[in-house]
Amino acid sequence: MGSDTSWLTIFMVFSSLLSTISGASDSHDPDALDALFHSFANQTLAKHHTGTLNKVPLPSNFSSIEVSAVRLRSGSLWRRGANLSFVQIPPRVRTLPYVKRLAIVYDNMGNLSSKFYQVPGFSLVSPVIGFNVYDYSNLTTLSDERITLSIVSEPISIHFPYVDAEDKNVTELKCVRFGAGGSVEFENMTERNVCVTGKSGHFSVVTSSMAEEKRRIWKWWVMGFVAGIIGLVLLIVAGVIICGMRRRMKIKTMEKESDKAVALDTFWVGGDKMPSASMTRTQPVLEHDYVP
Ligand SMILES: *[C@@H]1O[C@H](CO)[C@@H](O)[C@H](O)[C@H]1NC(C)=O
Ligand SMILES: *[C@@H]1O[C@H](CO)[C@@H](O)[C@H](O)[C@H]1NC(C)=O
Ligand SMILES: *[C@@H]1O[C@H](CO)[C@@H](O)[C@H](O)[C@H]1NC(C)=O
Ligand SMILES: *[C@@H]1O[C@H](CO)[C@@H](O)[C@H](O)[C@H]1NC(C)=O
Ligand SMILES: *[C@@H]1O[C@H](CO)[C@@H](O)[C@H](O)[C@H]1NC(C)=O
Ligand SMILES: *[C@@H]1O[C@H](CO)[C@@H](O)[C@H](O)[C@H]1NC(C)=O
Ligand SMILES: *[C@@H]1O[C@H](CO)[C@@H](O)[C@H](O)[C@H]1NC(C)=O
Repeated sequence: MGSDTSWLTIFMVFSSLLSTISGASDSHDPDALDALFHSFANQTLAKHHTGTLNKVPLPSNFSSIEVSAVRLRSGSLWRRGANLSFVQIPPRVRTLPYVKRLAIVYDNMGNLSSKFYQVPGFSLVSPVIGFNVYDYSNLTTLSDERITLSIVSEPISIHFPYVDAEDKNVTELKCVRFGAGGSVEFENMTERNVCVTGKSGHFSVVTSSMAEEKRRIWKWWVMGFVAGIIGLVLLIVAGVIICGMRRRMKIKTMEKESDKAVALDTFWVGGDKMPSASMTRTQPVLEHDYVP
């Protein structure tokens, strides 16, 4: 177990080193991204009416990120809640501080999730879904001020479009919340594909990559063991064959030697060697001493 852990440590150090080398150049700041979404959402919301969820157009290199925004009166949020496809805010939600109008900017980071959001020691297994709430009391501009939501009954739920961990028990998954300034909070996951929260921010599902590395190392051990067994069997088989061949050769040479020693002619019958004498070596001699 001790050597296993030390190998694991070496492996982890190497993989984190590799990921920092390869990832350092294109790590992005999530807070800057939120500011960018805010500014594009402001432009979109200025052109649309209250109550409808509007798609926010983004520059083409962000095209796999999906951003939407909605303007609401706080009274409407309290009575009806809000359904922003993957984010569902139940009724009986208040804003802190009280504002008359607010806007919710919602994003689905899609396949760019891990470019902006990472948790050391864990791997993201779902896209990052996020939302922020801003004051929109000034009807011409989206305020920079973030509004906190205060929940009375049910929590807000995040429904992930997919969680790429079909082979995992839900107890092996964790909900993670990325707050402002790089803060990260974990929560146990209770329902597959759903995280619940009381706060705004960005959310994803993670699995421990430590467990993943352990599983991979265990697989290598098993594969090595099986390969070793197969190798051993092959070695034994080869040994047996070689021994057999050597024995047969020995027998053949011994036969040859004996053949030479006897110096009898041989002939083959079927596959068998038979000694033959071309002539009888001791001629029968008649007893001449018979005197009639
Ligand atoms: C898109 O390009 C802008 C500069 O034009 C850059 O700041 C931004 O990081 C790029 N987005 C992505 C997702 O790489
Ligand atoms: C929210 O909207 C989605 C479609 O956009 C729908 O599938 C889902 O059932 C809605 N949820 C609620 C609670 O209304
Ligand atoms: C993300 O997905 C889009 C299509 O949805 C694709 O065009 C783009 O190349 C993908 N980007 C990466 C980094 O995988
Ligand atoms: C809305 O904001 C603009 C610019 O920030 C300001 O000039 C205007 O007075 C504000 N309106 C209200 C009603 O607060
Ligand atoms: C929001 O958009 C409006 C209308 O385009 C503009 O007047 C205002 O300055 C923008 N506010 C911010 C904070 O960008
Ligand atoms: C998940 O694990 C828990 C205990 O660890 C177990 O009770 C439960 O049956 C497992 N669920 C599945 C689907 O394997
Ligand atoms: C999460 O579950 C573990 C056991 O699986 C428990 O020890 C821990 O207290 C739970 N954490 C929270 C925040 O509920």
